[in-house]
Amino acid sequence: MFADVVPYLRCPICADDLAVAEKALRCPAGHAFDIARQGYANLLTGKAHLGTADTPEMVAARADFLGGGHFAPLAELVAERAAALDPGEGCVLDAGAGTGHYLAAVLDRLPGRPGVALDISKHALRRAARAHPRIGALAWDVWRPLPVRTGAVAVLIDVFAPRSGTEFHRVLRPDGALIVVTPAPYHLGELIERLGLLSVDERKADRVADSVGERFAPTGAWSLDLPLSLTHADVASLVAMGPSARHTEPGILRERIAALAEPVKVTAAFEVRAFDVRPES
Ligand SMILES: C[S@@+](CC[C@H](N)C(=O)[O-])C[C@H]1O[C@@H](n2cnc3c(N)ncnc32)[C@H](O)[C@@H]1O
Ligand SMILES: [Zn+2]
Repeated sequence: MFADVVPYLRCPICADDLAVAEKALRCPAGHAFDIARQGYANLLTGKAHLGTADTPEMVAARADFLGGGHFAPLAELVAERAAALDPGEGCVLDAGAGTGHYLAAVLDRLPGRPGVALDISKHALRRAARAHPRIGALAWDVWRPLPVRTGAVAVLIDVFAPRSGTEFHRVLRPDGALIVVTPAPYHLGELIERLGLLSVDERKADRVADSVGERFAPTGAWSLDLPLSLTHADVASLVAMGPSARHTEPGILRERIAALAEPVKVTAAFEVRAFDVRPES
């Protein structure tokens, strides 16, 4: 797992190579990062801002919901695009990987290739570390310079997670590809009003383009609408894994979900965008 991944990584403190030492990743200068019992390595040094990290409850809800296969066509589409755009060499990087669900689907399509899962939530990383034998899971903050070598990444996927255009550009190979997934404006539209959820920003598409900006050239965009038929328990997991989980009082939410007619008909709607790396001007 880490043995395959370390050639693509760099020390987050001095940017030198990392190697697997006993229960740690270590650079020649002696900076060492523990590999947790649960299989992920903690590269975060100093005070991390964990405010946006998924909580244990969010991660458990995400694992339950994704495990039910409801978003399988999205994983399939991301994996298919990744395989089509893969330059044939380099690792796959998932920024804000969560449970590693999408990275595992991509690695299944790219035999023998290593995958790096970055997330700031240790609860998510415990799952990501087990999601696929070729995943190396690292605790890291995507807003900091990535602990990944320049030009090491063949395909970088970012699924509903923070995006750092400058660093994504640095770590990608010149012939690599960036794949970004965001919710479409009408994602879960049927539930937004009835459950009082946060709605998707109408300008999300512009914001994706802004965030990756002039460093990337768009090469394709695919919309995916999934009509879902859900139980109350599925709806509860779906809400609990998303941003509304932090903003809605659990008791009120439970009552509102119980009042929905079962099965609950909902449309999940996604936008998948691919980008080529532009040469540095
Ligand atoms: C909406 S979840 C998506 C997870 C996964 N990509 C998926 O779709 O299943 C966003 C993820 O980004 C992680 N995250 C949030 N802020 C982050 C940061 N600054 N650096 C790294 N990961 C971050 C959260 O912990 C969470 O796992
Ligand atoms: Zn170092």
